[in-house]
Amino acid sequence: MADKSYQAVMGRRPEIMRKAVGIDYDSFESGSLAFDYETMMSKAAFSLDKIREIQRATGIGNTPLLEMKNLTALARHYAAPGKGARIFVKDEACNPSGSFKARRASVSAYYAKTKGYPGLVSATSGNYGAGIASQAAMLGLKAIVVQEVFDSRGLGQPEILEKGRACEAYGAEVLQLTVGPELFYTFLLVLEETGFFNASLYTPFSITGIETLGVEIAEQCQSLLGKKPDVVVATNAGGGNLTGTARGLIKAGCADTKIVAASVDLSGLHMASDKDFNRKSFTTGHTGFGVPFTTSPDRADVPRNAARPLRYMDRYVTITQGEVFFMTEALAQVEGLERGPAGNTSLAAAFSIAQEMDQDQIVVVQETEYTGAGKHPSPQLTFASANGIEVRRGDPKDNIPGQRIVIPENPGQIKAVELPLEKLRQSYLKHNLASVKDGKVSAADMEYLAAEINLPPAEAEAMIQAALKEGK
Ligand SMILES: Cc1ncc(COP(=O)(O)O)c(C=O)c1O
Repeated sequence: MADKSYQAVMGRRPEIMRKAVGIDYDSFESGSLAFDYETMMSKAAFSLDKIREIQRATGIGNTPLLEMKNLTALARHYAAPGKGARIFVKDEACNPSGSFKARRASVSAYYAKTKGYPGLVSATSGNYGAGIASQAAMLGLKAIVVQEVFDSRGLGQPEILEKGRACEAYGAEVLQLTVGPELFYTFLLVLEETGFFNASLYTPFSITGIETLGVEIAEQCQSLLGKKPDVVVATNAGGGNLTGTARGLIKAGCADTKIVAASVDLSGLHMASDKDFNRKSFTTGHTGFGVPFTTSPDRADVPRNAARPLRYMDRYVTITQGEVFFMTEALAQVEGLERGPAGNTSLAAAFSIAQEMDQDQIVVVQETEYTGAGKHPSPQLTFASANGIEVRRGDPKDNIPGQRIVIPENPGQIKAVELPLEKLRQSYLKHNLASVKDGKVSAADMEYLAAEINLPPAEAEAMIQAALKEGK
């Protein structure tokens, strides 16, 4: 019998992973910093047409693009004359499991089924588990979701509990854990013991599954409005949502569309900390995931992360928890759409960004998610208050992550805050150049890094040289 100690299981990680994802990652490696990202994306997954066919078969996609006429009017009320772009929302809550994560799960489920895996395993605290469970149910596969739920007092946030409930409702077995390194250990052990497929969030299957979302936005804007969107705002955490959507937009010819990442500002809180775990009132779409995954994407559960958001973003903005809670209620009460928390992060950002744009421009909020039970603002805010967080009305500038949630007094106070891309690029280089020993970067690595930080070659090289000097 295999040794199940923590060290032994972690030591078997490469072989467990190899069996469980069916991708030979080594074949895309160059032996240095660079790897062949585009070849990995095209060879390891399926063509766009095939993915559309896979998704059509399980009722995924073709979600409506809805104009937010009343929110647009409200944004114009606070904007300078002539400003206030038209705001549209891609209603991803209409997917089978209630979020865009159904797209992300669909290709893995299809692949696992065709390759004869008996089931799927995913390590997630969120909507992705529901996507996996729902897809598994449709294809007659088993699903196991390993979920980080509780702090060491045994307390779990209402939003996380609701997401776990959804996974169970779709027939998955849910393993509920406390915060800490046991999540990855348990995940590996489950993969090894079951022989199920690793439906990682970060494989080419997952990310190409999201490309259809970008393609649909482009097609729907073209047919409804006769043009491509000027700006698309995507809620950013692990980076797959933004990466897949941006790649889809590019494939559909949206070369000039600006991609904006939006995350809830949770600066100062530590994601792996037992104490901080329940001091945040958003479980995804926040900077606690968004910043580390943007600046160091290969921290994922597979050797190379197919989600590489820094390659695609034109801007990264943050928004406070109180502003998102406000926008969740505004969407319900002004537009008559009750939707879940994460998508409203980009809606709050879009509401602010629309005010910088001209009235004939188009801003698309790239997704919504379903809402229900613990996902609503009231249980989350009640839980926050019970855990010592101050909740009050006021100026969102007074918000302090983990200490105070300030719900704006009026929508004019909602303001997206810029997270400078230059800082993120420098941080990316700091993480990724750490293994460079002699201070020399080959021409191929230079080209790879320029694509990774999304800068023209000369600008990228200057920044890389400066980072190398600093790292000495
Ligand atoms: C509804 C919703 N929106 C956005 C995100 C962020 O996606 P990503 O982690 O790929 O950046 C998530 C991920 O948890 C989500 O569930």
